[in-house]
Amino acid sequence: MTMAQRTALITGITGQDGSYLTELLLGEGYAVHGVVRRTSNLQRSRIEHLRRDEKIYGKRLFLHYGDLSDGTTLRRIFRAVQPTEVYHLAGQSHVGLSFEIPESTCDEAGMATLRLLEIARDQPQPLRFYHASSSEIFGNAIELPQTENTPMLPASPYGCAKAFATQLVRVYRQSYGLFVCNGILYNHESPRRGENFVTRKIARAAARISRGLDTDLTLGNLESRRDWGRAQDYVRAMWLMLQQETPDDYVVATGETHSVREFVEAAFAVVDLPWKKYVRHDPSFDRPAEPAQLVGCADKIRKRLGWEVTGTFLQLVREMVEAELEQLGR
Ligand code: NAP
Ligand code: GDD
Repeated sequence: MTMAQRTALITGITGQDGSYLTELLLGEGYAVHGVVRRTSNLQRSRIEHLRRDEKIYGKRLFLHYGDLSDGTTLRRIFRAVQPTEVYHLAGQSHVGLSFEIPESTCDEAGMATLRLLEIARDQPQPLRFYHASSSEIFGNAIELPQTENTPMLPASPYGCAKAFATQLVRVYRQSYGLFVCNGILYNHESPRRGENFVTRKIARAAARISRGLDTDLTLGNLESRRDWGRAQDYVRAMWLMLQQETPDDYVVATGETHSVREFVEAAFAVVDLPWKKYVRHDPSFDRPAEPAQLVGCADKIRKRLGWEVTGTFLQLVREMVEAELEQLGR
């Protein structure tokens, strides 16, 4: 593929991963098209800096109104854009909320992926398709660490929908020879993380408490453990998967776990405050079910694609808290 032919279509371009992936692809010389929902507020904060850049917006970055539930429009966007690479990242991504809004979560994470695979299958030109799978497909995992071959045992509506979509991607690859990949990504975080995910919530609270803007932080289960990496590394993994000769599935993870409590300790240490004085437990943040320990083995992507993590857990926490402090300073 030559540089001039590379056109990417991203669903979920306004999300954490979509925004970093857009920056990466623009840096690699792609034309980038994103699907955006109609919202009452035109601000799309994570990509606003790109939209305001006259050298980029309307020249190499284009936005199209669409919704995952609207197959006709998605098909029309594919026809107009003729993407060579599709990154399907959109959908309700909060696991806890998926217990409260299971139907829409499963429509978005499950059925919409099927919808897009069908559109991809009908395209006259060859394209490569990335699906944002998740460690949540392993749920009550029967092995530690998990690999691409670990059986799926999801423990939430979100995990069930991602498992359905992950298996469909495999079926479409095997049945129709499509170039479709599952990135089985473990938690990845950044200053652009949504505010109701635990790492951002903690980083934001630590910064605000240190400036006297808040008095406490209420959390659910402090003993939950996650394999937390940096979002910027993980979008690079997505891109690498579509640059290979053959499509495949890859686990993307650090291989290390930390508890929510450790994240809290590290975040409050950045602002030099005793965390126990400020953190309260609120059972409404506990989930009906938590997955067993999720920790990924990323040997396959490291060995085959040369992917690496950059930075440590403590550096990630510091980066997130410092970004919050900087934002408050402005
Ligand atoms: P995110 O920040 O929550 O972004 C989700 C994106 O999906 C947003 O752009 C959102 O648009 C869009 N979206 C939601 N529903 C839509 C709909 N009905 N139609 C069109 N667009 C819709 O998620 P993320 O952290 O970037 O994650 C990207 C993907 O990777 C998600 O599928 C997530 O489930 C999966 N994943 C994430 C992680 C992680 O740790 N971050 C790990 C594994 C897998 P609005 O801006 O309009 O809301
Ligand atoms: N959100 C949230 N809020 N989580 C809390 C809180 C709280 O106040 N208190 C404790 N937790 C615990 C949750 O119970 C969970 O065990 C852990 O913190 C992480 O929660 P989230 O940050 O919401 O992430 P997640 O692991 O459920 O899901 C994320 O990672 C998945 C990949 O493993 C999301 O990005 C998913 O989209 C992604 O698939």
